[in-house]
Amino acid sequence: ARENSAYDGHERLWMGKDTVRGLTAIVAIHDTTLGPALGGTRIWKYSSFDEALTDVLRLSRGMTLKNSVCGIPFGGGKAVIIADSKTEKNAQLLTAYADMLQALTGQYITAEDVGLTLSDADFLRLRTSNVAGTTIGGSENPSPFTALGVFLGLKAAWKFKTGRGDLKDVRVAVQGLGAVGLSLCRHLHQASAKLVVADMDQAKCEQAHSEFSAEIGNSANILLSDVDILAPCALGGVFSALNIDVLNAQIIAGAANNQLLTHTGANRLRDRGILYAPDYVLNAGGVINVAAEFDLDGYDRTKVLTMIDGIPATLTRIFERAEREGAATNDIAEIIARERIEAEKSR
Ligand code: NAI
Repeated sequence: ARENSAYDGHERLWMGKDTVRGLTAIVAIHDTTLGPALGGTRIWKYSSFDEALTDVLRLSRGMTLKNSVCGIPFGGGKAVIIADSKTEKNAQLLTAYADMLQALTGQYITAEDVGLTLSDADFLRLRTSNVAGTTIGGSENPSPFTALGVFLGLKAAWKFKTGRGDLKDVRVAVQGLGAVGLSLCRHLHQASAKLVVADMDQAKCEQAHSEFSAEIGNSANILLSDVDILAPCALGGVFSALNIDVLNAQIIAGAANNQLLTHTGANRLRDRGILYAPDYVLNAGGVINVAAEFDLDGYDRTKVLTMIDGIPATLTRIFERAEREGAATNDIAEIIARERIEAEKSR
């Protein structure tokens, strides 16, 4: 792993292999200065072990930054299971994974991510307490909370860029109509935005069309749509040197983790006058909700919603500071995240 450039500063890396029960999993713990590592488990059919390793390392680093910026008492970690969630995820595999989580004795707490559902999280929780985002713990599915934070943050980005406080007739392209994407569409539709959507699953596009009058775009080039705002809500790595120069939108504000293929992509976006809302600041609603399960006073939804209400203000501070300092927004977000971690280290 040390040879992998994404390894950067990780504390620990665990690999779980159970050939009998079909499990190959990697748990990456990036930084536990602020508390135990908290971040979801992704189940994905990676084409190689190296691809899975790179993904989990990038995702766990992102969790350190996200958990720090949103102010919860948790460090950053993430896990991946190499499997097709539609055909290879079963009780045996999940039981083997629960055993692995239990063996990590609370250093890492997991939750949902792509391929791992609320009922999977409940299944794991019956076997280990190192799982959050469950019906049993009380916070349930984090996705609607993520979508709410993305919606509020997207509105803040629009206000910052244009001075307008409403989204009436603003054109937004949503890539990916999963748990977060569809819920985001609902908020945007209620705010009278005009939607263009894409998903590899045609049924989801039809649903967005009938429920939210969304125009169905082409999934191969939805990010090049002639819209005001792009909201990537599928997988990461969608903005690179291949497309940044030909984007038509003024703002990028979506839920997907690691949207930029390379960190420096944000400088290119800035040069083009495209406002980039750092993904882990915008999509923190889910982890805020999950973390609340561990609150000593018990899970309190009102507190969660108050914290999510803080996302637009955090984002606006990042935009203002980036403008003042002539820096990229993701650089400023990272500085803010690291400030909290460094302050904790020096306590
Ligand atoms: P999901 O698995 O429910 O939905 C993803 C959707 O994207 C699926 O409908 C899939 O068909 C579609 N998709 C995949 N590749 C696509 C492509 N190339 N073009 C169009 N559609 C494509 O996942 P979920 O939970 O909605 O998460 C979406 C993103 O947000 C992920 O990157 C996830 O890591 C991130 N995120 C999710 C959080 C949550 O609370 N669920 C929290 C923070 C981040």
